[in-house]
Amino acid sequence: MPETLKIAVSKGRIYKEALPLLAHAGIEPLDDPESSRKLILDTSQVHVHLVIIRATDVPTYVQYGAADIGVAGKDVLMEHGGEGLYEPLDLGIARCRMMVAGPEGAAPQGGRLRVATKYLNSTRRYFAARGEQVELIKLYGSMELAPLVGLADRIVDLVDTGNTLKANGLAPLEHIADISSRLIVNKASMKMKHDLVTDLIDSIAEAVRTRSAT
Ligand code: ATP
Ligand code: PRP
Repeated sequence: MPETLKIAVSKGRIYKEALPLLAHAGIEPLDDPESSRKLILDTSQVHVHLVIIRATDVPTYVQYGAADIGVAGKDVLMEHGGEGLYEPLDLGIARCRMMVAGPEGAAPQGGRLRVATKYLNSTRRYFAARGEQVELIKLYGSMELAPLVGLADRIVDLVDTGNTLKANGLAPLEHIADISSRLIVNKASMKMKHDLVTDLIDSIAEAVRTRSAT
């Protein structure tokens, strides 16, 4: 049986920005995940399939070999830890920053700072490295709400234009990391499907270089 490649990608901004890079490698999906309910999409290359999953699940699918390759934000990879994965390529898409944000002005006095985030591991590491003890509150989205209703003093979230923070009367306070999406590869697939995988990496790397040059 001919070897196949499964590429895990999330709907939305990563999918939109990854499409031209995949097209450069000759991979064009035959369905649109925004309108189709299919979770595995055939592509113009008969042996390549796109697996459509949530952004936070991409490293897990690739770690366990359910997908050979994936496209994941560095924010998601920092949380996952990267076990079982290679990260050969920065795609330079879905760029933003992971920041501490909150109401402008002095930090609240007394007691531990309460920080709400969906990025528990990154946040824990960041404050621990600064020797600050904080109370972490796990959220799954809409972090900007937390300081507005007294749930937390600070949030850790992604910031691009800053419009979401501004619209909620918050400001970026501390920079944690620059974020972009990375190509990730299952370690066993890299060995067992070496030629297929490296050809794809090379082709996408060329697309990234071509795009940066224009
Ligand atoms: P999930 O559905 O798993 O909760 P999500 O809602 O965070 O994920 P997206 O909003 O599509 O999924 O974000 C996917 C990735 O895009 C993030 O992991 C991050 O790397 C990047 N990203 C998120 N927000 C922005 C933004 N405002 N500007 C640029 N890139 C962003
Ligand atoms: C992300 C992030 C911020 C917003 C920042 O949310 O969680 O809320 O983008 O972007 P900005 O600085 O340009 O305003 P997203 O748009 O992905 O919504 P979601 O987290 O609800 O999916």
